[in-house]
Amino acid sequence: MNILILGSGGREHTFAWKIAQSPKCEKLFVAPGNSGTAQVATNINIGVTDFPAIKELVLNNHIDLVVVGPEDPLVQGVHDYFLNDEALKHISVIGPQKKAAELEGSKEFAKEFLYRHNIPTAAYESFTKKTVEKGYAFLETLNAPYVLKADGLAAGKGVVILNDLNEAKAELKSMLVDAKFGEASTKVVIEEFLDGIELSCFVLTDGEHYKILPTAKDYKRIGEGDTGLNTGGMGAVSPVPFATDEFLNKIEERIVKPTIQGFKKDNLPYVGFVFIGLIKVGNDPKVIEYNVRMGDPETEVVLPRLKNDFVEILLAMANGTLDKIDIEIDERAATTIMTVSGGYPEAYEKGKEITGVNDIKDSIAFHAGAQLKDEKIVTSGGRVMAITSYGNTYQEAIKKSYQSIEKLHFDKMYYRKDIGFDL
Ligand code: AMP
Ligand code: GLY
Repeated sequence: MNILILGSGGREHTFAWKIAQSPKCEKLFVAPGNSGTAQVATNINIGVTDFPAIKELVLNNHIDLVVVGPEDPLVQGVHDYFLNDEALKHISVIGPQKKAAELEGSKEFAKEFLYRHNIPTAAYESFTKKTVEKGYAFLETLNAPYVLKADGLAAGKGVVILNDLNEAKAELKSMLVDAKFGEASTKVVIEEFLDGIELSCFVLTDGEHYKILPTAKDYKRIGEGDTGLNTGGMGAVSPVPFATDEFLNKIEERIVKPTIQGFKKDNLPYVGFVFIGLIKVGNDPKVIEYNVRMGDPETEVVLPRLKNDFVEILLAMANGTLDKIDIEIDERAATTIMTVSGGYPEAYEKGKEITGVNDIKDSIAFHAGAQLKDEKIVTSGGRVMAITSYGNTYQEAIKKSYQSIEKLHFDKMYYRKDIGFDL
C-alpha cells in the first residue's frame, strides 16, 4: 500500500524509518519532509495544513493511508476534511477528528474532559478578559508557584509558571487584556501547581480498543539541570526507570481506561495517538496535558523499541481491530540526544552545513530541522538532529549517543550533556 506522512520533524523521520521497514509499504511519501525522510521516502514540498494540495497529492499517488505527525492539521480538521470529501472518504487517516483534537487545541476543553471523567489532574479555573478581576482573586487563593496556561495553541510557549503573585497577576493581564498570545490567550486556565517528576505515556487507539506504548521522559528546558527556556524537547529516555509496574498499573486504571471510555461517552471519534503528559505526585500519576499526536523527541526513543510491523498496527487502528495486535517491545533502553542550532529556542541562524552524519554507526541519526541543499545537508530549524542509541541500561545508551555526537558537526551546534541526570 502507499502511505503519506504529514510533517517534517524528527518524529516524522522516525515514522518514515519505521514504516519503510514494513513489507506492506509500497510507496512512501512525506509532506513536506526533511533530509532524513528523503533517505527512505519521497518528499513532496507542500504544507501540512494545505488541505487542497494534500488532496491532490493523495489522489495522484493513490495513497491508502495518511499518518498525521503534528497537531496543527488535526486541530484544523484534516481528518474531517477527508471524511467530508467523496473522493477521499475511503482513505484511512491516523489522527483524531477536529472535535477530539480540541483536547490539545484547548486547555479548557481538556480540563473539562478530565473533570467530567474523574481523571486525576490539577485543580483549575478558567478566565477571560471580562473576568480578569476574578482571575486576580483566584490567584490570591493559591500558593506559589502560579501556573497560567493560554487556552489555545501557542507553539509550546503558552504555559507560564511564576513564583511571585504580582508577576502572576501582571502575566494574567498581559495574556487576557493585551492578547500576549493572540487568539490563543482569549481564555486562560489557572492551575494548581503540581510538584513531582514528569513522564509521558503514549496510547494507540482505534476508538474502541487501546494499546499502551512504552513510557518516555523528555527534557524540555534548554539548559543543563533543567534550567532556562522551554524548548520542544532536548532529549528523551525510554523506558522511564521510576515507572514501576505498580505505577504503570495506576496509569492504566485511573487514566488510560477512563480516557478511552471518555472518548466514547462524549462521542469524540478517535483513531490515533494519545500522548498523556503526566506528573508523579507522591506515588500517584496526575495528568498535566493531552496531546493528540506522538511526542517529539519521545517518538525517537519509543518507536525504535517497538518490534512490531508498524504498518500492521496503523491498519489495525484504522480498521478497529487493535485488540488483535500484541505489542512487542525491545527490552533494551533507548535514548536520544537532540542537537540544536546555537541560540535556539530564541533567534538562531539556518543553512549551516551538517557533516559527519554518515560516520555515525552505533546510533541512529533522526533528522529534524535539516534539509538537502545542493547535495549537502544543512540546518533548517532550531532542533536539528536527534541521535538515538540502544543500551542494556539507559546509561549505556546515553553514553553511546554522546560518543556518536562527537562525529557530528555544524557551526554553533549545541546539546545538553546531562540527559538522564535526574533518573
Ligand atoms: P504543557 O504545555 O501543558 O505541557 O505545560 C508545559 C510544562 O509546564 C509542563 O511540561 C510542566 O513542566 C509544566 N506544568 C504544566 N502544568 C503544571 C502544573 N499544574 N504543575 C506543575 N507544572 C506544570
Ligand atoms: N516533547 C514534547 C512534545 O512533543 O510536546
